[in-house]
Amino acid sequence: MSALELVVRHARVATAADIFEADIGISGGRIVALGLNLPAGAREIDAAGRVVTPGGVDAHCHLDQPVDPPVRMADDFDSGTRSAACGGTTTVIPFAAQRKGGTLREAVDDYHRRAEGRAHVDYAFHLIVSDATPRVLHEELPALIREGYTSFKIYMTYDDLKLDDGQVLDVLAVAREHGAMAMIHAENADCIEWLTRRLEAAGRTAPRFHAHARPMLVEREATHRAISLAELVDVPILIVHVSGREAVEQIRWARAHGLKVFAETCPQYLFLTADDLGIDDSYLGARCVCSPPPRDASNQRVIWDGLGDGLFTVFSSDHAPFRYDAPEGKKPGGEEVAFRHIPNGIPGLETRLPLLYSEGVLGGRITLEKFVELTATNPAKAYGLHPRKGSIAIGSDADLVVWGEGEFVLSNERLHHAVDYTPYEGRTLRAWPALTLAGGEVVWDGRDFHARAGRGRFLPCGLPTLMPGRRGA
Ligand code: URP
Ligand code: ZN
Ligand code: ZN
Repeated sequence: MSALELVVRHARVATAADIFEADIGISGGRIVALGLNLPAGAREIDAAGRVVTPGGVDAHCHLDQPVDPPVRMADDFDSGTRSAACGGTTTVIPFAAQRKGGTLREAVDDYHRRAEGRAHVDYAFHLIVSDATPRVLHEELPALIREGYTSFKIYMTYDDLKLDDGQVLDVLAVAREHGAMAMIHAENADCIEWLTRRLEAAGRTAPRFHAHARPMLVEREATHRAISLAELVDVPILIVHVSGREAVEQIRWARAHGLKVFAETCPQYLFLTADDLGIDDSYLGARCVCSPPPRDASNQRVIWDGLGDGLFTVFSSDHAPFRYDAPEGKKPGGEEVAFRHIPNGIPGLETRLPLLYSEGVLGGRITLEKFVELTATNPAKAYGLHPRKGSIAIGSDADLVVWGEGEFVLSNERLHHAVDYTPYEGRTLRAWPALTLAGGEVVWDGRDFHARAGRGRFLPCGLPTLMPGRRGA
């Protein structure tokens, strides 16, 4: 064996399948040896028996995504991927979003310009298809899939993004023909609009009414419709940011009927409730306005159960970063606005893994193997990045997290995003990455971030490997 550049010694290696003691030998940014008593490396890190997991793959986050002025996302590829690395995430998959009337190619080219030279960790792109023209369906999407953009999100809500059912079917048919992964935001747009108008007419415009305008029913209905549309086309889908029981029931029903329906959930559905949007009309609740909205404690339990029992495939942050006290953020133009106009989304790239590790693994709710599966291995498989990402295996990128355990109280000051709050302020956590390695480089040492913007590379994605056989195949 040629000399190892780095050995991470005495690791308690956790993968989606096993937990075992090993030294990890690294050369050229990749894992090249796993074993006991590996020969000395040019550099050595002593993990001292601590848990070492694959670097996280955050398969749903929004960075520097263009939105209508004056609103602007707080995190670009620099601050967003810095924050990711400090929280143990070494691959991010944000969204190149098509504008209605624009092309997908323009969106992809623009997004590359935004990322180029700025990322600290590796990144891939999902597409957002908001205008399913014949050219998009028959030329752009097939060409982009071949080039490594193998997943796309479609929205059933938001005026500037939503597709009608016929358009969803058209996009799903392209996913089927080319083996791509369709991600679906399932909420019923017309119900939301109807409820919003009634709330506005009654003067109920405070942030907390965002949750009243998007009850579980609107997510349940759209989830069922998305499943039905996918069944009609006979194509796997992945339902993103599932918030509670009624949507979970639809997904369980689909699985019981042999349909390939994958599901994602996010920290906000485990750790926040609708009360975080306000129990009175305070504008502070705007910080937790996201869609679907957080539900209640009983729905949180359903989401925990689904993480443990295999209902959920991936656990993502849905990081959608807007500053609270800012005219480009949650107070557009400097005003406290009606809930309809509050930018949707909350930050969570950096806290995703520590929250789940603390409350899920150390809280005894999920196994360490399940943690790895949900946060790294499955997202890498779902979006065609496995086994390069999401694994601790010979040949995989040396993206690793060495976990530190010990209680502390979370505050926004210790985070590295460009957002002026965290929804999890004051929460006691029990773990945080003591070290994050990306491609064998220490990018976070538990105290300091070792910045090198541009070290993160764009990753063209292969086809998903979660679904080797289609339904009936
Ligand atoms: O409120 C949210 N989730 N904002 C981000 C956009 C999306 O739909 O994922
Ligand atoms: Zn969404
Ligand atoms: Zn999102």
